[in-house]
Amino acid sequence: MKPKVLVTREVFDETLAFLGQHCDVESNQPDVAYAPDELARRLADKDGLMCALTDRVDAPLLERGPRLKVVANIAVGYNNIDVPACTARGIMVTNTPGVLDDSTADLAWALMLAAARRLTEVEGYVRGDGWKGWCLKQWLGVDVHHATLGIIGMGRIGQVIAKRATGFEMKVLYHNRKRIAPDIERRLNAAYATKEELVRQSDFVVLQVPYSPETHHLIGAAELKLMKPTAILVNSTRGGVVDDAALVAALKSGVIRAAGLDVFENEPKLHPGFLDLDNVVLAPHIGSSTEATRRAMAMTAARNAVAALTGGTPPNLLNPR
Ligand code: DGY
Repeated sequence: MKPKVLVTREVFDETLAFLGQHCDVESNQPDVAYAPDELARRLADKDGLMCALTDRVDAPLLERGPRLKVVANIAVGYNNIDVPACTARGIMVTNTPGVLDDSTADLAWALMLAAARRLTEVEGYVRGDGWKGWCLKQWLGVDVHHATLGIIGMGRIGQVIAKRATGFEMKVLYHNRKRIAPDIERRLNAAYATKEELVRQSDFVVLQVPYSPETHHLIGAAELKLMKPTAILVNSTRGGVVDDAALVAALKSGVIRAAGLDVFENEPKLHPGFLDLDNVVLAPHIGSSTEATRRAMAMTAARNAVAALTGGTPPNLLNPR
């Protein structure tokens, strides 16, 4: 008898083919997210769960999956999963680190550049047939090159973002729970700063910390007030790291210049006000969404699930015994 796996969202054909070699697979190719009760019902006879950040995996759900041995998240972030509750039941939890670092860093840069050069505003202008010709003072943006980049969260993705700053000849500051090794600081030409120093001095503040109770509203009204009025905030990590209500107010009143956002506190709902602002670039949580990266993420999650269900140790186990 093969172990039974539930895949909660649409995945690629090769992901299903690989899983099918080792498991009986129930998948959700129509990709209509399961309501909590339906997810629990489908989990009742499953040994493995391959899920996405849109699925909440908590103690009440685990109660209804008595056979569950592994929860394989198709994401590097795993704040949707109650890891201690899984550990208490002997359930392995895995994520997909590494395969999405470059793509996610690219998106942070795309948001930075788009907000600095007002790309979404000017695109609307051109498409709206408003362009009557070149003017010296038209759509003035701010320079990215030679500016100061502040990165909060200097893990793998933060470091890739910093690496790309070399080409723009930027000064790089970073803040992290733990200072990174001196040789990496040197290689990235990045200087450690307190959170307060970083937000005061940076022209671009980019957030790359995972979401947790400790990082909830890491950037709120107080931090926004410390930022330069010309500064741009980029959040492509997780909603909730920024206090969206405070950010809308700051963007509206010119406390900071602009923002580039890929994630939101109650996504897919946006905080009222974002849609009325011109000085915010909005994206629908696509940080890792390139064809190659999303395929790699799905396959990484599948390999983790299969390893766990065939007696091995998953390569990306978050809760080793
Ligand atoms: C992640 O992997 O955590 C991303 O947010 C998914 O796109």
